[in-house]
Amino acid sequence: MIYFDNGATTYPKPPRVAFAVSNAISNLGGNPGRGGHPMAMQAAQEVYNVRKMAAELFGLDAPENVIFTQNCSHALNLVVYGLLQKGDRVVISDLEHNSVYRPLAWLAKQGIIELEIVETSLVDPWQTLESFEKALQKKTALVLCTHASNVTGTVLPIKAISQLAHQRGALFAVDGAQSAGILEIDMKDMGIDFLCVPGHKGLYGPSGTGMMLCGCDSLLEPMMRGGTGSLSAQQEMPDFYPDRLECGTVNLCGICGLGQGLRFIKNKGIKRLYAHDFDLINLFYQFMIRCNGIELYAPEPRYGWASSVLSFNLKGRSGEETAQILSEKGFALRGGLHCAPLAHQKLGTLDRGTARIGVGAFNTPAQVLQLCETIKKLQDTV
Ligand code: ALA
Repeated sequence: MIYFDNGATTYPKPPRVAFAVSNAISNLGGNPGRGGHPMAMQAAQEVYNVRKMAAELFGLDAPENVIFTQNCSHALNLVVYGLLQKGDRVVISDLEHNSVYRPLAWLAKQGIIELEIVETSLVDPWQTLESFEKALQKKTALVLCTHASNVTGTVLPIKAISQLAHQRGALFAVDGAQSAGILEIDMKDMGIDFLCVPGHKGLYGPSGTGMMLCGCDSLLEPMMRGGTGSLSAQQEMPDFYPDRLECGTVNLCGICGLGQGLRFIKNKGIKRLYAHDFDLINLFYQFMIRCNGIELYAPEPRYGWASSVLSFNLKGRSGEETAQILSEKGFALRGGLHCAPLAHQKLGTLDRGTARIGVGAFNTPAQVLQLCETIKKLQDTV
């Protein structure tokens, strides 16, 4: 099976990731932050090292503002439920995943917030910016948007949206599910107040890991309360990160694996990794655009404005059917709505979904060409 479902989770992982997970379970016996004996101290040190690496990768000064979560949805929920208050207005894009849309739609349905969905352009980032500008005429508490669509791969002009949001007094949060480890992200330079990322996608860590990085002085209200190993005599949760938002024992094995995923990104270099992914997506696009029986759901990829996923369908087939046919030919792709109904509404594919190719560091041009040839043959035989 050739794996092209890296948008859902990356596979394979660098071998050192599996080694770190196994090493943690065998040798890091203590509970980080919950004891003064050497094993607990060593576990705490390992966790801190990963916080530090994550802060460095994303241009954040304070490693303690890296909050470990179960996944990117968990990180986004921390921001949404920890920040918003009755009467707040929130602006999002029309490419959002359900991890952004569902918690906000729920708050809107309860009458707690007002939600505005901004129309993006798949070809012109500046047109997208104009839409955000219009939406930000009204007082807004939070702008929350994806860095890159998990359906089309479209990259939004994050730095410019952030400047706009801040000019209008709003905080700015980013869903980095399809960009962390894939595109360069510097929270300081890009003005990101909250960055939510999965550990198991572009960062090549194990599933069950994610992070919320706080780049501003907002103290979010915790979504969960419990033991933190600090200020235990106090009834309230600590008023400092990460303890305020991390209660209970952390996923030590997962975090150690994630640390090696981060090291992999650092060693390879994000520019090089992105160039690799971009070349593969572009290769797929250039081949497919010349194929008659294919529907492509994104414009020609432009360097820096396209992520590592792309949606398409075999003509007359749904996304699930397309993915199933290709699975029978030995290729793993995701088909369906990809938990992003807003994006499909925009593309007009809500009824049939799309098949999605998601490339990663371990894919090769030869694999992409093999997929292209298979699709071409399928079309020739229809
Ligand atoms: N959110 C992941 C995806 O887009 C799982 O496939």
